[in-house]
Amino acid sequence: MSQEEMKQRAAEAALAFIDDDTTVVGVGTGTTINYFIEALAKIKVRLEGAVSSSVETTRRLKARGIPVLDLNGVWPLPIYVDGADESTRSLQLIKGGGGALTGEKIVAAASEKFICIADETKLVDVLGDYPLPVEVVPMARSYVGRELLRRGGQPVLRENFKTDQGNLILDVYNLQILEPAKLEAELNDIAGIVTVGLFALRPADILLLGTADSVKELRR
Ligand code: A5P
Repeated sequence: MSQEEMKQRAAEAALAFIDDDTTVVGVGTGTTINYFIEALAKIKVRLEGAVSSSVETTRRLKARGIPVLDLNGVWPLPIYVDGADESTRSLQLIKGGGGALTGEKIVAAASEKFICIADETKLVDVLGDYPLPVEVVPMARSYVGRELLRRGGQPVLRENFKTDQGNLILDVYNLQILEPAKLEAELNDIAGIVTVGLFALRPADILLLGTADSVKELRR
């Protein structure tokens, strides 16, 4: 079975967590989530709408006829579904490969339950093989780069890329992230960093991992 099929399998399994009383769903960004949007379109009749994490997801939701709601007008947000670039068994994540980390972090923070969907290749023992995306305000690029170098990372500017918020991304290589929550808090404190692609202070609650023959469910 291909990685794409495993992603699709995980995405479809997430539908089971949307019960009849759930009227609003938070929707992440990425190739795995694109399968989830297709699945969500099948139950859209019982949804008031979705809260989107990015411009791209908004476009896809609208194209499937799913109303997009402003997060400011939605409370509580019972469920958020999103993908990941890496996850540990304690459901701490690296995200932001697609560059939508700021919207994703906000919607994840505002949600009551965060369901992460991924194929099994995303499960790791230690975060950091995947370069850590860090969103920075353009004028802080060099300063933040030096601060990341001081901490042992190798920041590389993502070429020809601007986030939905008009910022830049530094992809940080060579980090072995043994204490994700501590590193997230430390990087959050650096002036000019908008969002760190570590989701450790607010990890996922449930991880659905598509494998070759099933979907594995991990809980925190
Ligand atoms: C988007 O910015 C990311 O956080 C994605 O959620 C993450 O990169 C997973 O993407 P895929 O589902 O495309 O692997």
